[in-house]
This record gives sequence, C-alpha cells and structure tokens, in this order.
Amino acid sequence: MSLVAHSLDLIRRLQSPSGAYPASPTFSAYRGYSWLRDGAFIAEGVSRHGDVAGADAFHAWCAGVVGDRAGQVDALVARAARGESVPVAEMLPTRFTLDGVNGDDDWWDFQLDGYGTWLWALHAHSARHGRVVPGVEKGVRATVRYLTAFWHLPCYDWWEEHVEQRHVATLGAVHAGLRAADALGVLSAAESAAATKAVAGIADLVAREGIGPASAAGGAAAGRLRKWLGSDAVDGSLLACVTPFGLYPADHPVGAATVAEVERQLARDGGVYRYLADTFYGGGRWLLLSGFLGWNHAAAGRQAEARRYLDWMAAQATASGDLPEQVPDLLLAPERRQEWLDRWGPVATPLLWSHGMYLILADELGVRA
Ligand code: BGC
Repeated sequence: MSLVAHSLDLIRRLQSPSGAYPASPTFSAYRGYSWLRDGAFIAEGVSRHGDVAGADAFHAWCAGVVGDRAGQVDALVARAARGESVPVAEMLPTRFTLDGVNGDDDWWDFQLDGYGTWLWALHAHSARHGRVVPGVEKGVRATVRYLTAFWHLPCYDWWEEHVEQRHVATLGAVHAGLRAADALGVLSAAESAAATKAVAGIADLVAREGIGPASAAGGAAAGRLRKWLGSDAVDGSLLACVTPFGLYPADHPVGAATVAEVERQLARDGGVYRYLADTFYGGGRWLLLSGFLGWNHAAAGRQAEARRYLDWMAAQATASGDLPEQVPDLLLAPERRQEWLDRWGPVATPLLWSHGMYLILADELGVRA
C-alpha cells in the first residue's frame, strides 16, 4: 500500500465516532486527546484526498465542542470588557478528550492558534468541496468572539511553551482564521466588524514587532519573521505564516526571507528542527515541519525541493508505514533524550499530524493513493 493510502486508512481507522482525531493512539501523554491544531491539518490532508465525510465529521465535532462553550466564551469576553484580567486557567483548553470534554490531566492549556487554524481549515475544506459543513455556525461564531477578544494576549505556542510571549505563528493562525470565518458568511455584522478590526490589528502588530527591520538595526532577524515579538530566533512554526496562512505570502520579501532563514537554520538533510534550543526528546527533526517546508517550496513553484522533503518524510516511516513525530538521529541536545524516554516512553508513533502533513504535501505534488 502506498504511504498516501496507508495515511488515509490510518487516519480513517483512528478517527473517533465523535469525529475527533486522536493526536497519537498510543503515546502516553497524548492518548485520548484531540488537538484543534493537529486535527485541523489532519482534516486538511484527508480533505485534499477526497475523505469529505471524515473532514466534515472533524469540523462538526470542533464546532460542537466550541459551540457548547459559547456561554463560557461570552462570560470571558464580558469579564475582559469590564477590565478584569482573566486567569489563563479559565480560558478554553488546548486539547479536548475524544468525547469533547476538557479532560483531567494537566496541560499547557492556553493556546489560541488551534482555534484560528480550525477556522482556516474549515473554510479551506468548504471552499474545496463547494459546500458548507452543516451545523457549524454556532461554533464558528463563538470562536470568532473568543479570538477577537483575546488575540492580543500572550499564550503558549505550537510547542506548548513560553506562555509569557506573543508568538508570531499564533498571530498568523488567528489572522488566517478570522479572515476565513468572515468568508464563510455566517457572522453577525458586529462579529464581522470585530474580525476585520482584529485582522488589521494583528497585521499592524506583526509589522511593527514581529519582523526585524530590513537594515542593520534588524540584527539577526532583519527582514524576516521572529519566533515571538522581539525575539531574534526563528521557529519552524513560522513556515505556516507564509503557506498556508498568508500573513506574509511566498511572493512577499518577508515571506520569502522567513522560509529561507528557517531552511538555513533549521533544515538538515530533509528533516526540520523546531528551533535551535529544542531539547524535547533531545531535539530531533520533526516530520510535520518537513511537510510545511515542502509545502512552502511547492507553493513557490520549487517542485524539486518540495519533493526532497516529501521523500525524506516517507523514508522515516516504520516497517508498517507509520510516521513518528520526530526522529532520533542528528539530535540538537542528545544528552536530553533519555529523560523524555523515561518520562513519556518512545516518541509518539504514529503521529496523525505527521500523516496529515504527508497527505498535504503529496497532494501539492500530485502524488495520489
Ligand atoms: C507538540 C504539539 C502537538 C502535540 C500533539 C506536542 O508535543 O508540542 O505541537 O500539538 O504534541 O501532537
């Protein structure tokens, strides 16, 4: 069976009857949970290969989960409007159990990017198949009220780290999600106006603080996106701000410079690190980031480079075709690997997000089941 066919089959088999996609069926720290971030890209992958029903079910699940919390969202928004600062612990969670409840395990639970990414993926899926997923309106509208009220707050990033910072990849996801939600045509006039205002606010903030000036004053970040506002580091998650989120598209100098710098600093032989200071499982190369880098190459017309990343992803599959989260050769911090093996066991395998990214990049390159 091809890796495209295996990925589709695996994702379909593991999708919960609720519609949720588990992040990884067996990995100790992820088992039983679905992330909006992972799930949105998994749904995008299967949507591109014709699993319309699977993607529909995931989007309906997300809409239900957030829609059920519309009261909580409106209470949070009202408190913020009265000038209260709402504790991070009271915000919506990062991940939900497959049945859509918050779950009892502690997690790094305030992340905004997944909510934006979900809206982006819902719109991409709806536009691709020319139909609105039934029953999503309440969830979409609650998500928009949540994001327009809180987009400016620091929160944990894609890697569940640095809650004290404002992460550019998170801002890019919210920017894309709010534009997508507006395009779905289900918002009230007030929600649509708030979305437009937040989109402009994000663009302005990133332009001022999320990019190094394109002069000597820009230092190491000159002319490209920063990992978080004010940081000089790059991060693999920034790739998404170019393709697919389009905060700075591939044909904009900032978009092009960001992809080039991520590749220069973080790519090695087809694999891509999250960031240079990464120590999680020793800081290996992540398959899903190879997917994003390949996707960026494909979107910019560099098919041969894109193909190299797809081939590297495929070469990391286990004998049964499963894709891990990261691989243990060429570690950035080899001395830190064992502590994670002791804490959480072997690296998450299969990671459904890795398979979702493989499907996306395969589709970009015309590789089908
Ligand atoms: C990663 C997240 C991911 C989660 C589930 C974490 O280790 O940092 O980006 O969403 O795993 O796959």
